[in-house]
Amino acid sequence: MKSKNSFMAIAGLGVIGAFFGALRTQEPAPSERSVWDGVYTEEQAKRGEALYEKQCSACHGDKLAGRESAPPLTGGAFLSNWNGLTLGDLFERVRRTMPQTSPGKLTRQQNADVLAYVLSFNKFPAGKTELYRQAEMLREIRFVSEKPAPKK
Ligand code: HEC
Repeated sequence: MKSKNSFMAIAGLGVIGAFFGALRTQEPAPSERSVWDGVYTEEQAKRGEALYEKQCSACHGDKLAGRESAPPLTGGAFLSNWNGLTLGDLFERVRRTMPQTSPGKLTRQQNADVLAYVLSFNKFPAGKTELYRQAEMLREIRFVSEKPAPKK
C-alpha cells in the first residue's frame, strides 16, 4: 500500500512536471531570433557610432568602457546584465533614460542606430536589414550573450 502511494505521488509529480515543462517550452517561439542572427547593418552601426561619439561617449567612454558612474556598455558585466532580456528592453532603457542629462532627446531612429553600434562593438554580427525602431518588434529579438550552437 505504502509503495503504491509513493508510486502515485511520483507519477503525479511527473504529470505536473510535464505540464509546466510544456508551458515553459511554449514561451520562446521556435522561430525566435537573437542578436546572433544579423539584426542590424554595418551602415546603421556607422551612423550609430557618430551618434555615440556625440551623445554617449562623454559618460560611457570612447571604447564603451564606462567611466565614473556610467557603466560600461561592453564586456562581461554588461553582457550578463542583458543576457536573456530582449533588444526591446535595451532599446526602451536607452530611449527613456539616456542620455542621462536629457532623456528622450534622441529619435527612435537614432536610438536604433546607437543600439546597432553597441551591438557591433560587442561583436554581434551585422546582417542585411536594419534594426527596427519599434520596441514591440525589438522584443522579438533576444539578447543572448553567448553564441548559441548552430541549429541543426
Ligand atoms: C551624462 C552622462 C550620460 C550620458 C550622456 C549617457 N549615459 Fe547612459 N548611463 C549613465 C549613467 C550614470 C548610467 C547608470 C545610472 C542610470 O541607470 O541612470 C547609465 C546607464 C546606461 C545604460 C544601462 C547599462 C546597464 O548595463 O544597465 C545604458 C544601456 C546606457 N546608459 C546607454 C547610453 C547611451 C546609448 C547613451 C547615448 C545615447 C547614453 N547612455 C548616454 C550616464 C550617461
